[in-house]
Amino acid sequence: MRKDFGKKTIITPLPVVIIGTYDENGTPNAMNAAWAGQVDADQIIISLSKHKTTDNLELKGEFTVAFATRKTVVESDYFGIESGRKADKIAKAGFHAVKASCVDAPVFEEYPLVLECKVAEMKPDGDGYLLIGETVNMNVDESILTDGKVDLSKMEPIMFDSAMNKYRVIGEIVGDAFKDGMKLR
Ligand SMILES: Cc1cc2nc3c(=O)[nH]c(=O)nc-3n(C[C@H](O)[C@H](O)[C@H](O)COP(=O)(O)O)c2cc1C
Repeated sequence: MRKDFGKKTIITPLPVVIIGTYDENGTPNAMNAAWAGQVDADQIIISLSKHKTTDNLELKGEFTVAFATRKTVVESDYFGIESGRKADKIAKAGFHAVKASCVDAPVFEEYPLVLECKVAEMKPDGDGYLLIGETVNMNVDESILTDGKVDLSKMEPIMFDSAMNKYRVIGEIVGDAFKDGMKLR
């Protein structure tokens, strides 16, 4: 038996990205976003309502995108339930921000993989925006590399489970892309 749910949409896995920005005083802010994806080799798209983060994006036109991990679940969720308009989230989380090497936006040392991005387009969309960003640099902590490649088993990124409002960890390898299907070709 199968069941129809109508328009309800589940795309999985949804990433848990942390958008890092500076405000007009150079104060770093972090925001959790799950409605995000990669649309080209160096382009990402994120659906955003209006936040402190979108004010900062309009001001600077540059941002970072980090990926939440098993070790940073509590802080990453906090970045999604508190606004930088009301609190210094970075100080509260005890995180450490340094300026990214290629953009005017913060890299949080606690996140091992960070994309440094420029705003390509902030398209008005309902009450918010569709943000299209272009990656100019990817910055990675060496602790998650194996033979020079990003190793998700070491990184342990989490995904947002929109069906159950949970975070789940990603990592186990179950197949070889572009290869396993050859058994049936
Ligand atoms: C799991 C999760 C996913 C979220 N995804 C998004 C998203 O994709 N787009 C968005 O606009 N807000 C999203 N939010 C809400 C923002 O993170 C939240 O409003 C935050 O307080 C904004 O921070 P800021 O005001 O400091 O920029 C999400 C929150 C959580 C907990």
